[in-house]
Amino acid sequence: MSGKEQDYINEAFADNWVVPLGPNVSGFEQDLERFTGGGKKIAAVSAGTAALHLALILAGVERDDEVICQSMTFSASANPVAYQGARPVFVDSEPLTWNMSPDLLEEAIRDRIARTGRKPKAIVVVDLYGMPAQMDRICEIADRYGITLIEDAAEALGSTFCRRECGTFGRFGALSFNGNKMITTSGGGALVCPDEETRRRAVFLATQAREPFPWYEHREIGYNYRMSNICAGIGRGQMHILEEHLAHHRHVHDVYARLFADFPGITLHSNPDDRFRSNYWLCNILIDSTATGFTYEDARVALAAGNIESRPLWKPMHLQPVFADAPSYTDGTSEHLFGRGLCLPAGPWVEDRHLEKIVNVLKSLVK
Ligand SMILES: Cc1ncc(COP(=O)(O)O)c(C=O)c1O
Repeated sequence: MSGKEQDYINEAFADNWVVPLGPNVSGFEQDLERFTGGGKKIAAVSAGTAALHLALILAGVERDDEVICQSMTFSASANPVAYQGARPVFVDSEPLTWNMSPDLLEEAIRDRIARTGRKPKAIVVVDLYGMPAQMDRICEIADRYGITLIEDAAEALGSTFCRRECGTFGRFGALSFNGNKMITTSGGGALVCPDEETRRRAVFLATQAREPFPWYEHREIGYNYRMSNICAGIGRGQMHILEEHLAHHRHVHDVYARLFADFPGITLHSNPDDRFRSNYWLCNILIDSTATGFTYEDARVALAAGNIESRPLWKPMHLQPVFADAPSYTDGTSEHLFGRGLCLPAGPWVEDRHLEKIVNVLKSLVK
């Protein structure tokens, strides 16, 4: 916390704006618009998942449509496709960014058109762990085929690709302010919209699609997805500390990079070249067990014994039982990553001495 969150919340109580609209909601949206730039308009909503759901609705995704999704991600990237009665089609990652492979994306689009006679309605690309996807190639493919691109930047607030902020590449972008994200509103999200008219439409749908009549008039199905003015107060306070959090996460990555530099068999996930600037929301390693003599699970258990939490990478969606029937275009990359990867501590409380301890635990496992 920056310490300013409570002030915004107190103001909301003093002015009796204890509702899902008000000065904090508008103020937080303006802060985010300034931060992301590019003339984008922001609608603050109750969750990143809600932002993704609204993006699909605004992209015209309907029952039985197909939506191409990155397979290696958290399930919330794909679940809203199912909310719409549409079908996710999963595309594997490439090894540089761990995000959607442009080559497999194009193969999937061509094959879906050949099989179904219809274009997929949208593409959901993710900036996983804060690492920007290969946005130049992904945007070019989406444009060439005329398919709406949705950028799931839930984990990537403050990351840039070619100096442009993540969340602003697609027609729509989604941000998350869940408790574990770069900044938090306790729970919340934002939809990044191309213009004010689209933003107004998103807010209309997010506030139960209430028509402008004195009575409650509804012509469409709406949603209760707007952000609360209290949560937005936390968000405004968090904007004061965002740059500090970003600097901290990048510092943690630099320290890991130094500590792992002479550790055979461990590869730290890092910006592939200087077009990519990850926020390093999480710091992740790949463990080559033939070189280290231990697996990612051995590492996780040893760290847990020292009261250090780590986690396997996201299990790809094409391997998830709930999506067993979904078509997928894979080349083994995400399965390879999932079988070797571990997310290491990187949050605001992590100090350099903790990082040394973490790396020493792993060094003690080397056979
Ligand atoms: C990649 C990704 N997409 C979407 C979401 C959903 O965001 P929220 O938890 O705010 O609904 C999250 C995080 O929770 C995420 O990590």
